[in-house]
Amino acid sequence: MAEPVDARCARELTAVFEELGAADAGALAALEALCFSSPWSEAQFVSSFGQAAFRAFGLRAAGRLAGYAAVYCGADELELLNIAVLPELRRQGLGARLLDGVLQAARKTGMNRGLLEVRVGNAPARALYESFGFAPVGRRKRYYADTGEDALVYQLDLASREECCMRKIVAANWKMYKTRGEAAATATALRRLLDGNMPEGRDVVVFPPFLAVSAVAEALAGADRMAVGAQDVYPAAEGAFTGEVSPAMLRDGGASWVLVGHSERRHVLGEDDAFVGRKAAFALEQGLKIMVCVGETLEEREAGRLEAVLARQLDAAFAGVRAAGCGDLAVAYEPVWAIGTGKVAGPREIAEAHALVRRLLVRRFPEFGNNVAILYGGSVKPANAASIIALDNVDGLLVGGASLDAESFSAIVRA
Ligand code: 13P
Repeated sequence: MAEPVDARCARELTAVFEELGAADAGALAALEALCFSSPWSEAQFVSSFGQAAFRAFGLRAAGRLAGYAAVYCGADELELLNIAVLPELRRQGLGARLLDGVLQAARKTGMNRGLLEVRVGNAPARALYESFGFAPVGRRKRYYADTGEDALVYQLDLASREECCMRKIVAANWKMYKTRGEAAATATALRRLLDGNMPEGRDVVVFPPFLAVSAVAEALAGADRMAVGAQDVYPAAEGAFTGEVSPAMLRDGGASWVLVGHSERRHVLGEDDAFVGRKAAFALEQGLKIMVCVGETLEEREAGRLEAVLARQLDAAFAGVRAAGCGDLAVAYEPVWAIGTGKVAGPREIAEAHALVRRLLVRRFPEFGNNVAILYGGSVKPANAASIIALDNVDGLLVGGASLDAESFSAIVRA
């Protein structure tokens, strides 16, 4: 017999948090009292969480209960009853982590909708929910007995990620390596290893240097699920732009994708956010799929600016973008300190950054942001690829050094 949704959701949630039971009611009530003006009584906790569909999940820090989420699991919707975090830990993003875990569990168990109620006057909570894509759908008059305040009902469409976008993209960025002959030979070897034999649910995109785009496109013509892209583009149809290449020229050469905003273009060639945004908008308008690269430097990460940097880069990149659907674009998260250094970001760092990118995508593209592929890049090798691609919100890999050799890259595609 199929496992009930409630049980599956609980299992997914306990992978992220610890399930709390009646024995924790005292700690929960104390936490509630700190976080809310009208805490539940111990009896309310025990009776509520004693029922199968109501559950509370906690996050402990330094040996004590630091936050919890109480949920009600319906047949296809998850209602978030309460979410609370110790005030002194709020700034560390614990509330967002709790909410992210709850939504991940709901998505994994195939729920279609997330629902919650929030006090009209609770601006920080409303901002948090809105940043995850929740939108107000109704209002309950004088819902809160203690203050007589109204509640806003927020809803989030959790519809499972579309089939087309569930595929994982494994991309090779050959940077400034390989002549035309070398590129064609590597592409031919890749085709021999992968064509007709592509692992289930994988798509390959190869980004050779400009001069080799058409040679690689010829070598891969007609191959199953193997596409070609360019590493850069200029945002104009034609004109006096010495040294630049237009979207139409790239399409003519056989490219269907283009990278925009790669960290080497930002940091070595001096491209700024606004220029990246012009490229993204124009390339998409001209019929190319765009893979927008973002990532923080070590200095930015250590200064606690990860979220601010990713938000700034993505906001600028998508400022003029009119995407029609999730298949038009992808985002590659490449922490600058992990590119070509042999230093891979750890699973927590990757999952945290990808969850941030997901939230920003959902906010920017409410209808399909949940389905846009987010790739990880930075020192990906055959030995670490499988564990990275299995992480939540990692929908593919963008590989530099280890993609130059056909055997090594095909091992990553199979990971
Ligand atoms: P490496 O895989 O060589 O670290 O490069 C990553 C990258 O920049 C891909 O675009």
